[in-house]
Amino acid sequence: MAGGRTLFVTGTDTGVGKTLIACGLIRIARQARVKVCGFKPVASGCERGADGLRNADALALRTAAGTRERYEDINPYAFEAPLAPHIAAQKEGRRIRTSALREAHGRLAARYGLVVAEGAGGWLVPLDETWTFAEWVADMDWPVLLVVGMRLGCLNHALLSAEAIARRAKLAGWVANCLPPAQECVQENIETLRHRIPAPCWGVVPAGAADAAPHLQFDPEAFLRPPAAPGDAD
Ligand SMILES: Nc1ncnc2c1ncn2[C@@H]1O[C@H](COP(=O)(O)OP(=O)(O)O)[C@@H](O)[C@H]1O
Ligand SMILES: [Mg+2]
Repeated sequence: MAGGRTLFVTGTDTGVGKTLIACGLIRIARQARVKVCGFKPVASGCERGADGLRNADALALRTAAGTRERYEDINPYAFEAPLAPHIAAQKEGRRIRTSALREAHGRLAARYGLVVAEGAGGWLVPLDETWTFAEWVADMDWPVLLVVGMRLGCLNHALLSAEAIARRAKLAGWVANCLPPAQECVQENIETLRHRIPAPCWGVVPAGAADAAPHLQFDPEAFLRPPAAPGDAD
């Protein structure tokens, strides 16, 4: 495919910090002078305004990137009801078509070196009666970043998600996002995940962080560098 690379940001759940971390990654890329755009393929839970439905995540990603892309390219599927996307679509007599998602992404990928895509909910959220985000992201061949919302129960959610991601896609890394109120023994929980998730931790974002960027270890240039061909000396 022409254009740059895409990183898909998923999470252990909804409300765990995917948007906060995706915006932080976008800001890091901008500081490194990488041409970067946010992408929220499917959003349920939108406000109806003069220009149509608008989702807060998509707007936050667009603001972080400072782009003037058409809203419909950044968020091709916007549903008003805050429901599971395929159910929200059904309620509106619509259907999420992965071909439309692919086309919207293609328009961005042709113009940007890096696209930071944010899922909806978690990894296995359905898109229609057969596909979930997992199949679609695997089909797109995007590496995946898992955001773990640090709270009681997150070890199970994180390890289930990491295992499911690795079955179909490349788990590029994970982030520990310390949601308020502070989890008891949060350091021990983070250490447990460091030992058990087979991918690097890209950062620990403290509770109350308004911007995740200072807490993330993300090198956009290294991420965008094509993998060395077999036999290349360095
Ligand atoms: N580390 C944090 N400290 C304080 N508030 C946070 C933190 N991470 C997320 N939040 C808040 O929690 C809510 C959910 O975060 P968000 O990034 O929107 O999650 P998601 O995209 O996974 O649904 C938002 O109101 C956000 O501001
Ligand atoms: Mg979000």
